[in-house]
Amino acid sequence: MNKWGIALEKLTVGYNGEPLVKGLSLFMDEGEFWVVVGPNGAGKSTFVKTILGIVPPLEGKVFIHGIDCTYHVACEEKRYLSYVPQMESYSKIFPATALDVVLSGIFPQKGKLKPVTDMERERALKWLESLELLRFKDVSFKYLSGGQQRKILIARALISSPHYLFLDEPTTGVDIKSARKILKIVNSLHKKDRFGICMVTHDLNSVWPFAEKVLILGNGKYLAGKKEKIIKEDILSEIYGVKVKIIKTPAGPVFLTGDKHY
Ligand SMILES: Nc1ncnc2c1ncn2[C@@H]1O[C@H](COP(=O)(O)OP(=O)(O)OP(=O)(O)O)[C@@H](O)[C@H]1O
Ligand SMILES: [Mg+2]
Repeated sequence: MNKWGIALEKLTVGYNGEPLVKGLSLFMDEGEFWVVVGPNGAGKSTFVKTILGIVPPLEGKVFIHGIDCTYHVACEEKRYLSYVPQMESYSKIFPATALDVVLSGIFPQKGKLKPVTDMERERALKWLESLELLRFKDVSFKYLSGGQQRKILIARALISSPHYLFLDEPTTGVDIKSARKILKIVNSLHKKDRFGICMVTHDLNSVWPFAEKVLILGNGKYLAGKKEKIIKEDILSEIYGVKVKIIKTPAGPVFLTGDKHY
């Protein structure tokens, strides 16, 4: 067993004994950029929540840095994992300032009752600054735009100094410019700070240049590996149930969907 990285062993994810994805085995190495794709309801969010220990697996194991964290809610190694949930799953009327929201990212590690230290506040301000959000620090979270809220939640995930950042559709519902900005930030965290990234997305075109490995979920099955090897027209068409065409361009492949392109 590799000492570092996240190893999934014959993992079956789902609810109430009903599997969404069966027997998934893969290894996410330190510092890799993974992208998770698949149709609505395929189990992408559930997959991420299972690794994070939010949802228990139906079968199989999750090892973090070689430690079996499958059923240990308090598994020490989980502090290396951080999470930006899908937009729908957090309250957008949260009655707290942007800075408070960022600082709330340290509570899972240190416990809610301990006061925030000056060093933690400095760290929060540093992340706000590097995400160009410092001017919003005292603004109520609910008054920020969708894109700004996403970036605040990324800062919130970063304050615990994780090794791996799990992002569930961080650009869905965000305008093109803000989406590019978020992807640039995530890519810089990966390249400069060597964060491992696991991003769920429906926008393969935007994420493709940054991704290294891809996990495709659909119809209860999975495919995982280097992006060029597994992303194929026939595989995507089958999993999404619509024709997918991949156009090769000098800037990389472009994914088109729907019959009108044929
Ligand atoms: N807590 C739960 N209990 C029972 N079923 C659930 C629960 N949460 C989600 N589901 C169901 O599990 C299936 C997969 O949900 P999931 O959110 O993982 O899909 P997804 O691939 O992330 O989809 P999307 O692209 O729409 O975000 C869906 O049919 C959903 O209704
Ligand atoms: Mg989802």
